[in-house]
Amino acid sequence: MAKFETQVGIVGAGPAGLMLSHLLHLHGIASVVLEAKQRAYCEERIRAGVLEHTSVETLRNAGVADRLMREGLRHEGIELGLHGRLHRIPFVELTGKAVTVYGQQEVVKDLISRRLSDSGDLRFDCGEVSLHDLEEICPSIHVEKEGNVDIISCDFIAGCDGFHGVSRSSIPAQALTVYDRTYPFAWLGILAEAPPSREELIYMRHERGFALYSMRSPRVTRLYLQCKHDEDLAEWSDDHIWNELHTRLGCSDGWHPTGGKILQKNVTGMRSFVVEPLQFGRLFLAGDSAHIVPPTGAKGMNLAFADVHYLAEALHERYRNNNGAKLDAYSATCLSRIWKAQRFSWWMTSLLHLFEDASPFDCKRQVAELEYVMRSRAAATSLAENYVGLPLD
Ligand code: FAD
Ligand code: DHB
Repeated sequence: MAKFETQVGIVGAGPAGLMLSHLLHLHGIASVVLEAKQRAYCEERIRAGVLEHTSVETLRNAGVADRLMREGLRHEGIELGLHGRLHRIPFVELTGKAVTVYGQQEVVKDLISRRLSDSGDLRFDCGEVSLHDLEEICPSIHVEKEGNVDIISCDFIAGCDGFHGVSRSSIPAQALTVYDRTYPFAWLGILAEAPPSREELIYMRHERGFALYSMRSPRVTRLYLQCKHDEDLAEWSDDHIWNELHTRLGCSDGWHPTGGKILQKNVTGMRSFVVEPLQFGRLFLAGDSAHIVPPTGAKGMNLAFADVHYLAEALHERYRNNNGAKLDAYSATCLSRIWKAQRFSWWMTSLLHLFEDASPFDCKRQVAELEYVMRSRAAATSLAENYVGLPLD
């Protein structure tokens, strides 16, 4: 058994845990990051791809955006599609702000590399984590591996271990209120070796189901199809996927996505989920451990960055001035933003997906709403300001 001490014990080396560890380091606060998976797994896991203006600013202010500024693709708008016709939502014209396409795994690589060059304590492949004495002054994290147990005593613990992590489930159920909604469909996502043939993302409503055209780099496209919630990937050959993408994304002007070798396929479920509060004693939840959004609004990773921005500020205030007011307000501060992102993600999902139980009235209303967003500057501005990211209060 080995004993360690740190100021903040962080469970999980995803975007939330790594960024928190880096922000704390900038404030002179020590942390240990415990990650169940190996480094390579964390750096290769393909997930989100759109960074809000707000997240880019957070990463820039923290000095970890050099490669992002060089390699990230600045997008000044998106296109919405209906009946094969596209309508552009010009973010910069409507809000003065843009978003950046840069893969989550690239952000993770940048943060890991920076933490290691700053001699950060990152423990990959750490073993089994359990949390103890969360309501005491000195909580601890136990890490068991091959019969050995390390005990890390902390002032505070940050649960940044995603939706299936150990942190949220360490809180007694009666201390949390859960808000949960699942959707009766999923996304089949592919990564393809095909240069983007369109400058911006396309969110297409189609009678056969929603489709999204996105990209990762000048050589790689990322595309998604609405599919059944229990879709069997084995039933989707590469040809079948490309045919369906051509059908749903094909435009009346003749454009359709360029095909290419499919590098990866996966199915992602759709869920809206929040627990309240984000604090139990000295444990603070951040990112997917506390909330999940359906991916349509591209908010998941961005919300994780907002949470840890607030948490780092609050911990800084606590250590610098012995003032715990921001820490006490952490949950309420985050939840105010989380619910706005939940509303937006639910709204984008409802606007664009095919709902099997939709009545003819629902379908007409959905089309009317999409046409309204396409034609009204006020409605388009509302979409744009949520998409580029609400300011951090
Ligand atoms: P995570 O990235 O989940 O990181 C949590 C970390 O904790 C992981 O590294 C995990 O291995 C580790 N961990 C878990 N349990 C333990 C434990 N017991 N002990 C130690 N470590 C542990 N968002 C979008 O905006 N667009 C998308 O296209 C998109 N696609 C997604 C596809 C998938 C399959 C998933 C699951 C999510 C997707 N998201 C997407 C959401 C986005 O990726 C997340 O919101 C984001 O990863 C949240 O970051 P996080 O750091 O909170 O959690
Ligand atoms: C991507 C994912 C999203 O959920 C989204 O809304 C836009 C783009 C992507 O993976 O590129």
